[in-house]
Amino acid sequence: MTKRILITSALPYINGVKHLGNLTGSMLPADVYARYNRARGRETLFICATDEHGTPAELAALEEGLPIEEYCAKWWAIQKDLGERFGLSWDYWGRSSSKQNHNLTQHFAKVLWEQGFLDIRSTRQVYSHADKRFLPDRYVIGTCPHCGYDRARGDQCENCTRVLDPADLINPRSAVSGSTDIELRDSKHLFLKQSLFADELRKWLGTRTEFSPLVTAIALKWLDEGLQDRGITRDLKWGVPVNAHEWGPNPQGEKPDVEGLKDKVFYVWFDAPIEYIGATREWADSIGKPNEWECWWRGGAVDDVRYVEFMGKDNVPFHTVGFPVTLLGANKGEPKDKQWKLVDVIKGTNWLNYYGGKFSTSQKRGVFMDTALEVLPPDLWRWYLVANSPESADTSFTWQHFSETVNKDLADVLGNFANRTLSFSASKFGPTVPDGGTPGPRETKLADELERRFGLYSTYLEDIQYRKAAAELRAIWVLGNEYLAEGAPWTAIREDKAKAALVIRTAVNLIRLFAVLSAPIIPNTAEALMLALKLDPKAIAWPKGRVADELNVIGAGASLEARFAFSKITSEQVAGWESRFGGAPN
Ligand code: 2FM
Ligand code: ZN
Repeated sequence: MTKRILITSALPYINGVKHLGNLTGSMLPADVYARYNRARGRETLFICATDEHGTPAELAALEEGLPIEEYCAKWWAIQKDLGERFGLSWDYWGRSSSKQNHNLTQHFAKVLWEQGFLDIRSTRQVYSHADKRFLPDRYVIGTCPHCGYDRARGDQCENCTRVLDPADLINPRSAVSGSTDIELRDSKHLFLKQSLFADELRKWLGTRTEFSPLVTAIALKWLDEGLQDRGITRDLKWGVPVNAHEWGPNPQGEKPDVEGLKDKVFYVWFDAPIEYIGATREWADSIGKPNEWECWWRGGAVDDVRYVEFMGKDNVPFHTVGFPVTLLGANKGEPKDKQWKLVDVIKGTNWLNYYGGKFSTSQKRGVFMDTALEVLPPDLWRWYLVANSPESADTSFTWQHFSETVNKDLADVLGNFANRTLSFSASKFGPTVPDGGTPGPRETKLADELERRFGLYSTYLEDIQYRKAAAELRAIWVLGNEYLAEGAPWTAIREDKAKAALVIRTAVNLIRLFAVLSAPIIPNTAEALMLALKLDPKAIAWPKGRVADELNVIGAGASLEARFAFSKITSEQVAGWESRFGGAPN
């Protein structure tokens, strides 16, 4: 059965510009996969959105002096612009604060309550009078009772690593204002009874054979440690209100404590994954087909959907435990023909580090999406980040490694091949492709080698193994250079002009093939290559038949540009960026 492909990337948190680690962990690999699947002609839907709720967003808005709604609208637009400039080809870029997500989140909670999967429990929360708000545990600081460290956080002491409760802290105070005018208050909260789902979840995981080993290992660790029930509400104003008055009784015949749940919103990690569905609904509304979202997410129509999620490893527990429990639990209350779709493939990535240390948003350490585009075009970043994807281990960015990689691969191998071919063609044969007659043994050998490598490349993209895919693509480009070196048209032109013409005509076709194959990873370069061949850059379709046929697409007489420029990064630039962005950690 031909599958429709649903792709989501972890929703970037709203608070500011994302760094290259965020980009390479989820958004970029998801984009490569979306572009690859579209090129293959598969029906593809690629969804992303900003994750907008929670205390960090509220505090960031306060710091900017903006109402939270305005703050989120502003950063949603900035992140959208940056994503688009990086070539992220979302079909829709939504917002977790959308009304669609509100409705869905409230729907899930109602069904879960009515199925008996939610509890209402009383918890002790820190309230700060000065800040006029409840403080999450990590926003309460004080002296650690174990080691005496005086800036221990209410969830954990970073000095002795012991897990803490805010009530354990000596001299507790608000991390927001520093005020000590705080108190513990009882507050009612909803808990998702995850513990009931341990067996079902383990069984489901057993069927997810396409999860990457990293993902399965993280999920099993959580299951092996014993699934805890999880608080899914918070005492905040900004978020999705619980709306318990709309709920019926649970299976024990109990009505919810509407009064106790009155001023609560859902915990950001409850509503954020639901926004994958919410944003699909936003997309459906935006195209004027308000029911279209359902065929991607629920009911019998999803049998032909292959759902692939991309995320950094820190997100994996929420997507292998929290969100699946929401969906599995809800499915017990939904009609047979409205069952929710669970994910088929989770691609979890390790960390991209900056000179061996962490990229840090709060400390502004590393390279961020806006400054990256300020210094260089997106494809240089895309190539480097895909070719060095932290798939099986953490990797480290350095300006030196970055510049060496893109200079060697993009300028010396790909760019140089295209430029040599075009400029030689222009100088010896004029503005159009020469004829050159019938392909010979050299072209057959090239086609055979291409066929083999193309097979591998497609398989690696299909399996989302990008380091291997990029290595294979690079090897394909190298075949072009080798072919040119062996065919040596600059020598042949003197005694055998037809041979030189054949080599050039074939090389011109190789440029087109390279554009097609490179497009998922470096779409702008692919487009520029197509334009250099005066072809429609949109006409990029994955080879269907034999690769040999791809070497005879552009025939004699087709017009060409006379060059293809791809500039190199200089050592002066590298030195400048090292000093501007900071190199090795102190
Ligand atoms: O880790 C993060 O940045 C989260 N904002 C990811 C959320 S993914 C999904 F659940 F929405
Ligand atoms: Zn301590």
